Amino acid sequence: MPKKEFIGLLGALAFAARFVNGQLEPDCNPLHAECPAKKAWPGDNYYIDFTKEAGPPENWIIADDEGVKFTSKGAGFTYGKKGDAPTMWTDFYMLGGRYDVEMQVAPGQGVISSSVLWSDTQDEIDWEFSGNQHGEEPFPPPDGKWLVETNVFAQGRMWDGAAKYQKDAYKPTTQFHTYSVEWDEDHMSWYVDNKVVRTVEASNTPSGFLFPQSPMKLQLGVWGGGDPANSYWTIQWAGGEIDMKGAPYTMYVRSVNITNKYPACQYRYKDRVRTTSRAKTDSC
Ligand SMILES: *[C@@H]1O[C@H](CO)[C@@H](O)[C@H](O)[C@H]1NC(C)=O
Repeated sequence: MPKKEFIGLLGALAFAARFVNGQLEPDCNPLHAECPAKKAWPGDNYYIDFTKEAGPPENWIIADDEGVKFTSKGAGFTYGKKGDAPTMWTDFYMLGGRYDVEMQVAPGQGVISSSVLWSDTQDEIDWEFSGNQHGEEPFPPPDGKWLVETNVFAQGRMWDGAAKYQKDAYKPTTQFHTYSVEWDEDHMSWYVDNKVVRTVEASNTPSGFLFPQSPMKLQLGVWGGGDPANSYWTIQWAGGEIDMKGAPYTMYVRSVNITNKYPACQYRYKDRVRTTSRAKTDSC
């Protein structure tokens, strides 16, 4: 697919993501208001094994909690009916590091599984997966061919996305794989099972955009990209209209392992108008 057209599809999706999943609107955007300081993570590592959790764990906030269950396979996020968007995010923010998320993508035409970093200024570094295909016909794609979406947003504006990933017997909807993002002031890299699939250097930031530079939280969840109420292009991007015959569709996250490059107690934005410097880091 021509790149230009593809960006168009992703643009449509960006709108839909915000529309479908209201959580992507921050409560307080520091570019437009004075916002309270945000909790950071004081250690250099955060690890959780969700298979050992019986209920909502410490340090996570859950939206649509009926759709989030803690099972022997890990945290399950279920799309069971139109409008479902079970989501969970860390109650702390980080200013750089590496995020390893061990997950199994929800199957189901038009169902999107996601693991995203995003900030109050709407910087965003994404992993998104369609349950059946990745922007190309035929549906479903030939075995082993998946397009994984690696979108980047800076202050709410999207750069571009998508990284092809092919591996023998790679079955993201029936197997767990580790999807990682490594991010700091110099670069962003995405890894599948420790193999790099895409890297962007800060020095190669597209003109007119900023490199993501604000404290991010990690958000996990499932949403209905193929909801018939969405735009035609969003539905195509998602793999077609959601087919409820196979529902419910569940994404599982087994573990999250975060390496924190800048341990801190909290992050405060220095001033409202500043657009290029990183948020201030408070030590404990
Ligand atoms: C978490 O990631 C770090 C850095 O890659 C690694 O050293 C550590 O063993 C991981 N922890 C677990 C429990 O997997």
